[in-house]
Amino acid sequence: MAGSSTVCVTGAGGFIASWLVKLLLARGYTVHGTVRDLSDKKSAHLKRLESAAERLRIFKADLLDYDAMAAAVVGCQGVFHVATPVPSEKLTDPELQMLAPAVTGTTNVLRAASAAGVQRVVVVSSIVAVEINPKGWPEGKIRDESCWSDEEFCRNNNVLLVLQIWYAVAKIISEEAALEYGRQTGLDVVSVNPGLVFGPMLQPTVNASSQFLIYLLKGGPDKVRNKLWHVVDVRDLAEALLLVYEVPGASGRHICAPHVISVRELLDLLKSKYPDYPCITRENICDRDHPAPMTSEKLTKLGWSCRPLEETIADAIGFCQRAGFLGDADGEAPCRFPPLFNKI
Ligand SMILES: NC(=O)c1ccc[n+]([C@@H]2O[C@H](COP(=O)([O-])OP(=O)(O)OC[C@H]3O[C@@H](n4cnc5c(N)ncnc54)[C@H](OP(=O)(O)O)[C@@H]3O)[C@@H](O)[C@H]2O)c1
Repeated sequence: MAGSSTVCVTGAGGFIASWLVKLLLARGYTVHGTVRDLSDKKSAHLKRLESAAERLRIFKADLLDYDAMAAAVVGCQGVFHVATPVPSEKLTDPELQMLAPAVTGTTNVLRAASAAGVQRVVVVSSIVAVEINPKGWPEGKIRDESCWSDEEFCRNNNVLLVLQIWYAVAKIISEEAALEYGRQTGLDVVSVNPGLVFGPMLQPTVNASSQFLIYLLKGGPDKVRNKLWHVVDVRDLAEALLLVYEVPGASGRHICAPHVISVRELLDLLKSKYPDYPCITRENICDRDHPAPMTSEKLTKLGWSCRPLEETIADAIGFCQRAGFLGDADGEAPCRFPPLFNKI
């Protein structure tokens, strides 16, 4: 799987995928990147990446369009399946907007990979497929890759709002289905479960997890649960995705969630480093119990390492300042906390 081969990245214009495409190009890969709309300015940045003119081909493909996805995967030795809707707003039709692209979309990508004789598929899942009320997991025990979120609990728990149920359910089902597809067909499928991803953005629009950090600094009307978050830098995540693609011995799931911090601790860090921002108020943080954290040891044992959280935060905020995402424009609607993160 040397760097002279061709790989496909689905949803190439997104936050995580853009960094992955940049890394792959830097390591000598030829990349087939899929986007939904070729004329959308949201993915224009891809063409400006170094070596993009020589080694990046952009394909128009919705996850639900098997033929378009198959055309993008032809000639590829590897596939990085990154695309999934990560909604910033509440969903109006969760089955259509969330489950179909996540679940049917993943199946389409895997079928296309099989048809093209791809050697390995890396599926980007999430720690939401690990951490939510796992059945039979001993209280206080560090969670590892053998821990699966309880899909039934996510579907049935009234405390969760529509949006969060469906995002979590979609990530659980699609990861399970992808690994099962690999077992059934012999296609080499591995998954990565990132925590909350922060870092500078390559894409021009603000994605949901970057909006999380922006909200903590700008403040606003929404309450935030004092959850124990697991954070990873987007650049370190891209390295992790490439590592599990390249290391022959990689198999199964890989938690990629190295930094554990509560919202109160994160707020203290932000206030000490950026005293000029209003930040969310302490009253807007709702306390809750903290279950046992997760470990990224499996990935570390493969040779992965990551930068300190302080560096990630500094780079993410420095980027947002330069891009004007932290400005306080007159008449601007109040900043909102992405509802996705308030229940998962
Ligand atoms: N950011 C995090 O904190 C985090 C944490 C854990 C896991 N993840 C996972 O990482 C992946 C990427 O997330 P991200 O943070 O980079 O979000 P993002 O910037 O919103 O990227 C999502 C990508 O998916 C594409 N997409 C959505 N629906 C699609 C469809 N029907 N057909 C084709 N493409 C579609 C989007 O394309 P358009 O631009 O056309 O909408 C976009 O390129 C997702 O699988 C997400 O679940 C993210």
